Amino acid sequence: MKQFRTTAAATMTILSLLGCAEQDKTEKADVKAQMAQHVQPTAQVYWEAVQYISDEQGAREIVPTTDEEWNRTVEAARTLRTLAETLKQPEYAADRGTDWQDFAQGMVEASSMAEAAARSRQPDKVLEAGGVLYNVCSACHEVYLTNPVRLAPDLHNETGQ
Ligand code: HEC
Repeated sequence: MKQFRTTAAATMTILSLLGCAEQDKTEKADVKAQMAQHVQPTAQVYWEAVQYISDEQGAREIVPTTDEEWNRTVEAARTLRTLAETLKQPEYAADRGTDWQDFAQGMVEASSMAEAAARSRQPDKVLEAGGVLYNVCSACHEVYLTNPVRLAPDLHNETGQ
């Protein structure tokens, strides 16, 4: 009896492995989850690193001050580039137009620019690169989203509504 169960379990494992191998050919990645769980939070880290805020409390700026803060900003840009490369893979790119690859490549390049800016530790450059990145996200969304999402951190929503 024990013998039988082991064999049955082994057979199940083999069957499920075969199932996976077959699925892999057509399986599509969950773009939405990738965006929500990885792309957006990482971009947010970058965008929030440098902020020029002007409101009723006056004008002030937020910039990275410690090595750790700068490194986190560099790291966010590097991660964004990796995520952009991932978007070019067939599980994301299949059945899309060639412009998908262009948008993904645009994000690769914007991320490289963002990384260089963070490495230079020049807040203005980080702000500018963040803007370029934002435009790349939006360009792809304009084509591929029916209801484009709001991406930028809401810097002025301090009333919490
Ligand atoms: C190559 C195209 C492309 C690029 C570049 C891109 N996105 Fe997206 N994004 C999509 C698509 C497609 C969806 C819609 C997925 C769905 O709803 O099925 C999406 C959805 C989203 C969503 C909504 C997720 C949800 O929960 O509904 C967010 C947030 C997002 N993207 C953030 C970003 C940010 C930030 C960037 C830039 C750093 C970016 N995206 C770059 C294609 C792209």
